[in-house]
Amino acid sequence: MRFFIRTYGCQMNIYDSKVIERRLIELGHRRAGSIDDAELVIVNTCSVREHAEKRALGQIRQIASQKKRRKLTLVVIGCMASRLSDKLISEYGADYAIGANKLWQIEEIVTGKKITPPKVFTGLSSPPKTGKKPTSYVAITRGCSNFCSYCIVPYVRGPLRHRKPNEIIQEVKLLASEGVREVTLIGQNVNSYRYGETGFAELLKMVSNVEGIERIRFTTNHPKDLSDSIIEAISSLPKVAHHIHLPVQSGSNRVLKLMRRGYSREDYLTLVEKLSRNIPDIHITTDVMVGFPTESIDDFKQTVKLYQQVGFAGGFFFYYSVRPGTAASRMKDDITYEEKIRRLNIIINIGQELAEKKSKELIGTTQKVLVEERVNKRPKELRGRISCGRVVTFEGEKELIGRIVPVRITAASTWSLRGKMENNS
Ligand code: SAH
Ligand code: SF4
Ligand code: F3S
Repeated sequence: MRFFIRTYGCQMNIYDSKVIERRLIELGHRRAGSIDDAELVIVNTCSVREHAEKRALGQIRQIASQKKRRKLTLVVIGCMASRLSDKLISEYGADYAIGANKLWQIEEIVTGKKITPPKVFTGLSSPPKTGKKPTSYVAITRGCSNFCSYCIVPYVRGPLRHRKPNEIIQEVKLLASEGVREVTLIGQNVNSYRYGETGFAELLKMVSNVEGIERIRFTTNHPKDLSDSIIEAISSLPKVAHHIHLPVQSGSNRVLKLMRRGYSREDYLTLVEKLSRNIPDIHITTDVMVGFPTESIDDFKQTVKLYQQVGFAGGFFFYYSVRPGTAASRMKDDITYEEKIRRLNIIINIGQELAEKKSKELIGTTQKVLVEERVNKRPKELRGRISCGRVVTFEGEKELIGRIVPVRITAASTWSLRGKMENNS
């Protein structure tokens, strides 16, 4: 059977889609070039914002309409399938709806055989298939038990579960043997990872010891769980990238409390100070949400002030959208759409200015680039990332893909850099 997987949402969904892809290939199925050529279409969905759901629902309807013309099985998986389940079948024309925690059921659908439900992970034991890039995600936890008041993730992904360290290391080793040089450890809150004696700092050490892995990234971090030992691990382990994505959400203590984030703006600033002191060249990026219920102009100004004070290297910016069943859904969504967008645009502009400033600071420095791929259509153009996460393009031969090379940064725009490779001796 030919299959096609369309993925929406976060890194966890990208990872899950790859796990499924590899399992389907192991079972003898082939990837289709497009949805139109596939007999099995899987749509992996996200529920984090209303907008994300609407986009996926539109696509699901459209694919379902193809069933009138040809034989097609449509399986909707992921977070929205957890939330809407049978409604996706009765109202949107899906054949199956499989929640993010029941991915092993795909194997049951494809093979017709019953499987014993796994306790913690996907049950599809194989790790994600690597594409051409020498980079890969590795999930270390699943779910989340934080219940930030606005967030749907704990409801659709279930409670926080930790993967066994030896299982993680086995996966990293396998990836390394397949040519992967950079792994990104992922979880809703990697800082809360703990399995017996192994916390996140210890896990970073263990992954660092895997031969063949040259660089380690990790996301997402949570300010309430970012301990000194984790900061120490980032600063002392040479393979660990000098980039941390540390979502702040708001700079107002009143709003942070309503969001149930578990830290204050002062706590956050203390972390930033510790990070910058221990790892001077670290890039800190963040998520900001504007328009949370009751957010006043003054609250928003505090977010802007904090953003400028930290001087973030980058950010993702969202306006609040009500998620059914969450604690915040019981509050009045009292900021108008127009006002949310106005605040969003202000913070986006500030975010871009600061990102450009951070990029420009890199001009003239020499950075280690892990070469990821060729730039489309230009045979001698390569692209890779430097430790802090910025993308660099430069001239070089494709044989360098998967290697770390020194590149002098010659020009910078908001998000990307241009460079010239230096003598690699
Ligand atoms: N686990 C991560 C976040 C996952 S969701 C963390 O705790 O940081 C990614 C981002 O989506 C969040 O950081 C938040 O900024 C945004 N988000 C989550 N729920 C939202 C909602 N109801 N409306 C708007 N943005 C939301
Ligand atoms: Fe959602 Fe908060 Fe968990 Fe992040 S930490 S996934 S924002 S509940
Ligand atoms: Fe979306 Fe689920 Fe990820 S809600 S952000 S796909 S965990």
